[in-house]
Amino acid sequence: MSIFAGKRIILGITGSIAAYKGADLASKLAQAGAQVETVFSPGAEKFIAPLTFQSVTGRKAFTDAELWGGEAHVLHVGLGHAADMLIIAPCTANTLAKMAHGQADNLLTVTALAAECPILIAPAMDGGMFAHPATQENVRILTGRGVTFVGPAPGHLASGLVGVGRMSEPLEILGVARAVLGRKLGRLRGRRLVITAGGSQEPIDPVRVITNRSSGRQGYALAQVALDMGAHVTLISHPTALTPPVGAEVVRVDTVQQMLEAVSGAIKDADGLVMAAAVADFRVKTVAGDKIKKRDGIPQIELEAAPDVLAAVANQRSGLPRLKVVVGFAAESRDLLENAKSKLISKKLDFIAANDISAGDAGFAVETNRITLLYPDGRSESLPLMDKGAAAQHILNRVAEILE
Ligand code: CTP
Repeated sequence: MSIFAGKRIILGITGSIAAYKGADLASKLAQAGAQVETVFSPGAEKFIAPLTFQSVTGRKAFTDAELWGGEAHVLHVGLGHAADMLIIAPCTANTLAKMAHGQADNLLTVTALAAECPILIAPAMDGGMFAHPATQENVRILTGRGVTFVGPAPGHLASGLVGVGRMSEPLEILGVARAVLGRKLGRLRGRRLVITAGGSQEPIDPVRVITNRSSGRQGYALAQVALDMGAHVTLISHPTALTPPVGAEVVRVDTVQQMLEAVSGAIKDADGLVMAAAVADFRVKTVAGDKIKKRDGIPQIELEAAPDVLAAVANQRSGLPRLKVVVGFAAESRDLLENAKSKLISKKLDFIAANDISAGDAGFAVETNRITLLYPDGRSESLPLMDKGAAAQHILNRVAEILE
C-alpha cells in the first residue's frame, strides 16, 4: 500500500511560474492516494487557476479570499491541525521570508504558522535571490526548526539566466515527501540500513566483463520501502536501468571487491544489512591490461573465487555491536530450501529470503517474486507470488521486528 494512502496533505502554491509544476505534483500526490487540499497565496492565482488543482485532486483549492470568508479564523487552524504534511511547492523568497519570521498575513502563511505537521519546502526563485544572504539566513532558520528543503535545482531560470533557483521536479519532491512521512510515522525511523542491489561486473580485459542477469528490482524495492518506513538507507549497487529511490545514499560499485569494501565501511554504523545483490562467486584471475585480440586465438580464461561479502560480514560482526540484523537472499534453480538453509547457517544470517529462479514469474528480471523466509530456529514462512514492493515490505517488517 502506498505510504500516501489516506494521508492529508496541504499543498501550498505561491506566486512563481513553477506553479504549473505544482499542479503536476498535486496530481501525483492524489494518484498516490493522498487527500490533497491546496492553499493558494495571493500571488499564486496570477499564475494558475484553483480549478486546475481542484480538478486533479478532486478536493478543494483554497484561495486567500477564503481567509475572510464564512469559516474565517478557524479555517487555517483546521487545515494546519488536521494535516499529515504541509508541502509548499513552489515556495517564493517572499513566502520563505514570512515563514522564517512567523509572519501570517495570508491564508497560506497563517496555515503554515498553525501547522503541527512536518513541513516540506521546494523553493523557486531567481538564482541571485536564492543565493542572497537574507534568503540563505531564512533557509537556515527554517532548517533549524525542522523544516525540510528540497532543491532548488540548477538550470535555466525564468529570468533567462542560468543558476540555482529552479523548483525541483515533482518526482523528486514526491520522493522527499515519502521519506519525510516515513521519518515521522515509520517503523524503521531512526534506523540505518545498508541494502545491496543489482549484479556485479568482473573485468576480463578493458572491454569485456563477466556479469549476470540481476535487474536490481528487488534491492531497489527494498530501498524504497525502507525509506518509506523512515530508515536512513545506504544503497550499494552496480548501476542498473532503474532510478534509485529519492533520499537513498547511493554508492556505485562494479566488482565484488568494491562491493565488499563499500559494505564493510557502511555497516560500521548500521543497524541492519540486507544483501539483495547477486554478486559474482568467481572472477578472472589475471585481468588482461589490453584488449584480448582475436588474432591471438581463443583465450583460456582462468577464474578464481571472488570474496564472499556475507561471509566477510559474519567474521566482522562481533566487532559491530550496532549491527543487529543481517539478511541474505538465496537464488536457486533447484533444491531451494536445502540450499537456502545451508547458506543461512554458513553465512550466520538472521534470516534468508529464498527464491526459485527457475519459475518464470519470480526471481531475476521480472516484477514479481515468490519467496520463502527461513530462520535459524527452523521456522519458515512461505509468501505467495507478489510484486517486489510487497515482498520488500514483508522482509522489512521482519527486520523491524528484530530491531524492536
Ligand atoms: N553473496 C555474497 N558474496 C558473494 C556471493 C553472494 O555476499 N560473493 C550473498 C548474496 O548477496 C546473497 C547470498 O550471499 O545474499 C547468497 O547468494 P547466492 O548467490 O544465492 O549463493 P552463494 O553463496 O553465492 O552460493 P551459490 O552461488 O553456490 O549458490
